[in-house]
Amino acid sequence: MSEPAPRVAEGTVAAIVPAAGRGERLGPGTPKALRLLGGVPMLVHAVRNLAAARLVSLVVVAAPPDQVAEVRALLADHHGGAPLQVVAGGPTRQESVRAALAALPDEVAVVLVHDAARPLAPVELVDAVARAVRAGAEAVIPVLPVTDTVKRVAGDVVVETVDRSHLRAVQTPQGFRRAVLEEAHLDPGVEDVTDDAGLVERAGHQVVVVPGAEEAFKVTRPLDLVLAEAVWSRIRPGGSRGR
Ligand code: C5P
Repeated sequence: MSEPAPRVAEGTVAAIVPAAGRGERLGPGTPKALRLLGGVPMLVHAVRNLAAARLVSLVVVAAPPDQVAEVRALLADHHGGAPLQVVAGGPTRQESVRAALAALPDEVAVVLVHDAARPLAPVELVDAVARAVRAGAEAVIPVLPVTDTVKRVAGDVVVETVDRSHLRAVQTPQGFRRAVLEEAHLDPGVEDVTDDAGLVERAGHQVVVVPGAEEAFKVTRPLDLVLAEAVWSRIRPGGSRGR
């Protein structure tokens, strides 16, 4: 089932895509990464944008373990740009990330981790994150201001209103020096943390932010898929944007 890692240059940036989730909050059916957006699986959109980024030289996808061959065939048909490798994901997101990390060639120095569930994250965002790590940051995350008022609750009672001016909503791709990410994934509390930057913070490293992109929103619930279809129909080549 496993395939040899593509040859890459020393200091290369690789992008890892955990895509092995069932996506139950989206409703029953195909694994989330393989749900269609504009007639094409979300994973294909995500991989295309990563592979098209100027600074990315390799993309490693962690697929549902029973669909590795299928995902490999799907991406072979649909993708151009940086070389691609597909490995079996794990039962949790973090295990899927670890499976992909284990497959990276030694030459990779910078790792981006990008959720397949953010199919429309723009190429420019991918390069901006990679550039910030290349420029010296240990860990980089794209963020957007929080627009809703946020309250802390206990049961159904409000405890306090949180000052949102210091809050940010976090997206992917998140970028890391490879050694920093690998060390963070040795943390035994790894499964309690919902993103890779959270692990890196716990390990005591500095995480810096860059501006995120509205299109990089995560498709979690059915309404997100409706929104993604609407956005895709505007931004796809030949779409209505700019008309
Ligand atoms: O479920 P959630 O939206 O948080 O998943 C985030 C990403 O992690 C998705 O791209 C999903 O496919 C991936 N994942 C994975 N392996 C799992 C669970 C989730 O690769 N076991």
